[in-house]
Amino acid sequence: MSSIRVLPELLISQIAAGEVVDRPASALKELLENSLDAGARELSVQLAGGGMKLITVADDGGGIAREELPLALARHATSKIASLEDLERVASLGFRGEALASIAAVSRLTLTSRRAGEKHGWTVTASGADVSKAAPAPLAAGTSIEVRDLYFNTPARRKFLKFEATEYAHCEEAFRRIALSRPEVAFTLQHNRRAQRHLKPQSLRGRIGAVLGEEFHTGALQLDESSAGLRLHGAVGLPAHARASRDEQYCFVNGRCVRDKLIAHAIRQAYRDVLHHEQHPSFVLFLEIDPAQVDVNVHPTKTEVRFRDARGVHQFIFHALNKALAGAVAGATTARSAVAAPGIAAQPMRQAAMALGAAEPTAFYETLFRQPEPAAPLTGAEEVPLGFALAQLSGVYVLAQNRQGLVIVDMHAAHERILYEKLKDALDRREIPMQPLLVPVSFSAEALDVATVEEHAEVLRTIGFDIAAASPTSLIVRAVPALLADADPSRLASDVLREVREYGASRVLTERRNELLATMACHAAVRANRKLSVPEMNALLREMEATERSGQCNHGRPTWHQVTMAELDRLFMRGR
Ligand SMILES: Nc1ncnc2c1ncn2[C@@H]1O[C@H](COP(=O)(O)OP(=O)(O)OP(=O)(O)O)[C@@H](O)[C@H]1O
Ligand SMILES: [Mg+2]
Repeated sequence: MSSIRVLPELLISQIAAGEVVDRPASALKELLENSLDAGARELSVQLAGGGMKLITVADDGGGIAREELPLALARHATSKIASLEDLERVASLGFRGEALASIAAVSRLTLTSRRAGEKHGWTVTASGADVSKAAPAPLAAGTSIEVRDLYFNTPARRKFLKFEATEYAHCEEAFRRIALSRPEVAFTLQHNRRAQRHLKPQSLRGRIGAVLGEEFHTGALQLDESSAGLRLHGAVGLPAHARASRDEQYCFVNGRCVRDKLIAHAIRQAYRDVLHHEQHPSFVLFLEIDPAQVDVNVHPTKTEVRFRDARGVHQFIFHALNKALAGAVAGATTARSAVAAPGIAAQPMRQAAMALGAAEPTAFYETLFRQPEPAAPLTGAEEVPLGFALAQLSGVYVLAQNRQGLVIVDMHAAHERILYEKLKDALDRREIPMQPLLVPVSFSAEALDVATVEEHAEVLRTIGFDIAAASPTSLIVRAVPALLADADPSRLASDVLREVREYGASRVLTERRNELLATMACHAAVRANRKLSVPEMNALLREMEATERSGQCNHGRPTWHQVTMAELDRLFMRGR
């Protein structure tokens, strides 16, 4: 083995470049972040060959003084922090003082800059280890950095580059992230001399629409929550508009785009109840937090963070999203109106429903469908978000009329959701009311089930069942949860026992709780082809309004859909 020696500066930078600039898109990200740190209001990006041939970023920021130009390209040189205290509360995007040095070590870089008050700009070029002397150069203002032939001197790295289209796609993604993070800044993007994007300064809502497409907003909720020095704002997609991939998930911490496991987990948790596990929500979320509470010095690419109070941040994000989603009665196109409405209109209904639940220990199912409700016309005073029932279609859908037009409800899915939320609520309060069966039902069971019943009678009571062994091979159900009195007792009991047997009693009540309650709800939800009267249908609509998350069934499918009058008119070409 050869002796230990200190590596030359260039090699050190090239090693660093391996992490900091692993592909053209990473170099682009670093250049854009530098421009934003310099206070730029307008940024223009030109790429050629997917960024492999050329990346130019020009800004109108504060610029770099002539004598500091070589320093900007030196390793461990930065204007952004000066001490450990600064590092512990970084407010800028950059702070490591290595991005430009790393890029310069693996490309042919030209840095031109002009500070306010100077007569002209100054330029330096770097290629490998050589940095030229500063020379005068024409430039209106700000800074322009040109990066040519990335990895020209590191062939091994060059081999890892993909096709131009792939590298360009990554560059575009980096551009999108930065553009989303600063809606007040103007951006343009060119590739191979063709204009790709032009973003004017705008509101966050406008920027999200411009970058991700206006459709994003049709299926999204705006959110802005603050608590204990934390703020979460942005837009989150409704579950019914979830996607098969994670491609529309943007998360920023103090304006920095991050990939953070903790945040991702909190978001997933908030959607867990309303989203199928193979689907992914869309979101553009901004977390604002005291910089001292978050460590950004975790990885050279600066895309990971660590929170001092990880638990607190997790809870805050989860609750903020959970609240937003719980309000989302809407599953479909009229998110805004429907979300705004229930809070006001459904309040008395919600109270009425709760009063009913407390006063009436008998079957919820009965109360739900017996509650008389006038099939009233739509007069302003009694307007309700989901309107009033008109008819039942094919034994599957309830058709109703509200102010916007036609409402179509999947009655099984909606009822299942209502039961599920009620069960969750009741279990949280540790009081799932039992309904004794007039005639107890016995059924034959495996020895294991009989053992489960004997061992876990208490747990079963907690969730509203009175089940006992009738013989070594049969069980008898004496009571079921009142909310589920309409279900087939033996099949319901068998399913619940299977859960308890498979996962153990304690897990069934903790991490498997929601799965268990969903199974139970499905058993008792109104089946297809059951004929509902108009008052029954109206009762269902009122319950939906009073139920959190009733826009989706327990499997994340929408429970109802709005067809507006305008859509109907379009269908019939009215008014043309
Ligand atoms: N577009 C720009 N406008 C003005 N100054 C710039 C610009 N780009 C770079 N600089 C100056 O050059 C310095 C070095 O930039 P570099 O990106 O290498 O490091 P950094 O941004 O400080 O930290 P990091 O390595 O985390 O990005 C910056 O600290 C800044 O002072
Ligand atoms: Mg930087």
